[in-house]
Parts: sequence; structure tokens; C-alpha cells
Amino acid sequence: MKKGVFITIEGPEGAGKTTIIEMLMDKLNSEGYSVVSTREPGGIEIAEKIRSVILDKENKAMDARTEALLYAAARRQHLVEKVLPAIENGYIVICDRFIDSSLAYQGHARGLGIDEVFSINQFAIDEMMPDATFYFDIDPEIGLERINRDKGREINRLDLEGFEFHRKVREGYQILCKRFPGRIVEIDASQSVEAVFQNVEDKLLRIIQ
Ligand code: TYD
Repeated sequence: MKKGVFITIEGPEGAGKTTIIEMLMDKLNSEGYSVVSTREPGGIEIAEKIRSVILDKENKAMDARTEALLYAAARRQHLVEKVLPAIENGYIVICDRFIDSSLAYQGHARGLGIDEVFSINQFAIDEMMPDATFYFDIDPEIGLERINRDKGREINRLDLEGFEFHRKVREGYQILCKRFPGRIVEIDASQSVEAVFQNVEDKLLRIIQ
């Protein structure tokens, strides 16, 4: 029986996921909730190693299916080692990216097909879908401008994709919002940080209470 709550945060680069997750962690901790935050790909040693292979700018020859399988492999290990034990112990788990990233990036933007990528991920997650997902929607022009402003940010292999790829990522997420309306909550990430936080916090508290 599931004891905790599994929340995922989705959206393109520059949507502000990291900032909002930090703010949510502070707030939930201060209110006495048991909460952990983590991220994909990575979060534990084996998955961080897979992450460095996937995101290495030198790996120009990487095939799209290889990329999808590596994300799914990292997801499996992270789920088993970190997410499931935390949920079993009654924690609220907030995960920066999960299956919807693969569906939007590899399934739609890379053109592998949302259903095809869903099926390899079913093998990886074994029906462990999130209880709720917050999708941070933002125009890719604004998102890319935000990340380019952050000079300290490390550029990875996916950041090197052109504008058209990032436009398709958003289109992919919008398809997912229509496909999973009960699970995915869409957030307008072009608002101020305070407004986005308020919006997510209100909805999250309703879900966990
Ligand atoms: P990261 O630096 O963690 O990006 P962000 O801060 O935007 O989350 O890099 C992760 C990259 O991997 C990001 O470009 C999205 C991509 N990604 C996929 O393409 N598929 C996936 O399944 C996941 C989890 C991430």
C-alpha cells in the first residue's frame, strides 16, 4: 500500500522549476511535512553516471532510441533506490522531471512517438505514475532567454538543440496535458516567481491534505 505522495514537476528549461521546488521544500518543511526533493536524470549514484553519458556534449553520435532507453534506465534505478523507499516511509516526494519529460522530449520532439516511449517507460516504472504533476508552461523564447542570462549554468547536449526542438517540446507537453487532464496541472510560468509559487502551493496543499 502506498503511504506517501509522489509529485512531479515538468516543463522546459528556464521555466523556473528549480526555484519553485526550493521554495516548496522550505514551506512544507516549516509546516512539519516529511518531504524530499530529487531530480531526473540522476538523484542517486548510478543514475548520475547515466546522466553524465546522456548529457555529455561529446556524445554527438547518440541515437534517439538509445537516449530514450538511457533516460528510462536512469528512471528505473532512481525510482527503486530513492523514490519508492521514501514513499513507503510516508514522505511527500517532489521530483524534478519524470516520465512526461521522456514523452515530450523523446516521444514528441525527437519524433519517436509518445506511445512508443510510454511503452518502454512502463517497463521501467511498473505502473508507478505520479499522483500529480505540475507542468510549468512557458514560451520557449522566454525560457531560452532566461537560461542564456544565467552565465553560470552548464550547457548540456540537449541545450544545444535549436529553437524548433524546444518548440516541439512545448507542443509535446501540451498534448500530454490533454491526454492526462486528471493528473497534470498546468501552471503559467511566465508570471512572477511569487505568483507561480502561490499557485503551485495552493494546489499542492489541496492534493496532499
Ligand atoms: P537538466 O540540466 O537537469 O535540465 P533542467 O534544469 O531543465 O531540468 O538537464 C536535463 C535535460 O534532460 C533537459 O534538457 C531535459 C532532458 N530530459 C529528457 O530529454 N528526457 C527525460 O526523460 C528527462 C528526465 C530529461
